Amino acid sequence: MLDSATFLTPAQIVAELDKYIIGQHDAKRNVAIALRNRWRRLHAPQDMQREIVPNNILMIGSTGVGKTEIARRLAAIADAPFTKVEASKFTEVGYVGRDVESMVRDLAEQAVNLVKQRRKEAVKSQAAQAVEDSILDALIPPLPGAGSSVVKPGLGFGGSPAGPDEMPSSDLELNERTRERFREKLRRGELEERFIEIKVQQSGGPGIGMMGGPAGLDEASLQGLQDMLGSMMPKKTRKRKVSIAEARKILLDEEAAKLIDMDEVKDEAIRLAENAGIIFIDEIDKVASASASKGGPDVSREGVQRDLLPIVEGSAVTTKYGVVNTDHILFIAAGAFHVSKPSDLIPELQGRFPIRVELQSLTKEDFYRILKDPKNALTKQYEALLKAEDVELTFDDAALEQLASIAFEVNSEVENIGARRLHTVMSRLLNDILFDVPDRIGANAHIQVTRELVEQRLQGMVRNRDLSQYIL
Ligand SMILES: Nc1ncnc2c1ncn2[C@@H]1O[C@H](COP(=O)(O)OP(=O)(O)OP(=O)(O)O)[C@@H](O)[C@H]1O
Ligand SMILES: [Mg+2]
Repeated sequence: MLDSATFLTPAQIVAELDKYIIGQHDAKRNVAIALRNRWRRLHAPQDMQREIVPNNILMIGSTGVGKTEIARRLAAIADAPFTKVEASKFTEVGYVGRDVESMVRDLAEQAVNLVKQRRKEAVKSQAAQAVEDSILDALIPPLPGAGSSVVKPGLGFGGSPAGPDEMPSSDLELNERTRERFREKLRRGELEERFIEIKVQQSGGPGIGMMGGPAGLDEASLQGLQDMLGSMMPKKTRKRKVSIAEARKILLDEEAAKLIDMDEVKDEAIRLAENAGIIFIDEIDKVASASASKGGPDVSREGVQRDLLPIVEGSAVTTKYGVVNTDHILFIAAGAFHVSKPSDLIPELQGRFPIRVELQSLTKEDFYRILKDPKNALTKQYEALLKAEDVELTFDDAALEQLASIAFEVNSEVENIGARRLHTVMSRLLNDILFDVPDRIGANAHIQVTRELVEQRLQGMVRNRDLSQYIL
């Protein structure tokens, strides 16, 4: 988290992004700086902290060059509340001018989850103790008198001939000893497969339908109302038979939840969202109007920009966890800006995104590396898919070069859809193979994708413009 000394340095952040995204060094650098600046600000003197405003970033690049991918990976790295919205969604009918604040509420939600998770982690061993006890109770229920020093008479097995003082106490002892034996077995993990019956809390009540909600209530208060009603209703529990391994998971979560103070969680979460939160606004170009024409969708687009403005500039947004001040939230916006230009955004909004980074168009060489290098590279994905059928799939380097070059060619001749072209080309190439496994190509087969195979399957299509328009 932000307060830890282990927070990634800019170079480390870039290195993390490099594992998934090829090229786009400029964008990676700037995103890394912005992220590290969050940490730096929190380690600056208090009075200075208020003054330091985040340098919001605008990422500009044509479609399929990695904008959204950078945001997605950043979320994983940030270790801070992060939320991603599409600006265009606010132009949809019914959304206009109303729900732009929902992105801040989302962020608060993320922050609460994050803090809750951290606190649960902290009380885990304490919770595990309680869980062990309840699992044990389910396995070997304690005798009613257990735990107290006064032994009530008559609790032994019915008809016991022994005196009321002796037998019960030895029953108790027996019970205790059995429990201890099972406790040890539990700790050694010997009983994980065994089934027990536990009580689990029913999640989610009926709630108020959003659509039919009382008029005049905004989403935040409606949510609050729902939560309040939820907490007033008695918690329903249900009995379930589960394996001990599963019971452990379910109960651990419940016990840990009991041990954390939700009020504290909320407070910390709000502070975290305010100081470390990142909101990624994708497709911002879709709300910029290329023409100054009046009426129609342009009005709603500009409306969305005007709605965005106060949030990006800094304002107080009510969430169900409390008021979130957006002054220090980092905003990263991205768009292809094919039709519109960044200068088509209203000036106030342009001013709030001082750092502009342009993403480069991808080259043939980039395509080759994208096919091969990222942790989630397409070739690796298909290899894994076929591996599930015990079929080995390998790609010759020459084949990948050829694929990259075909994708590049189709992009320049038909339409440039960036790295997304690799998906269409690849799925076309492997289509027959994917169908034939496992019926015609059985387990333990080895399929080597060669340059010849690539040419044979795809070259004809590339030559035929009409065909590639539809198929590739
Ligand atoms: N530089 C890159 N390195 C690795 N993979 C990439 C790169 N650029 C794009 N991709 C891959 O291409 C696909 C589309 O990329 P992404 O969603 O980031 O596009 P985008 O820039 O957001 O485009 P759009 O403007 O259309 O939203 C993803 O599957 C992504 O993994
Ligand atoms: Mg995108």
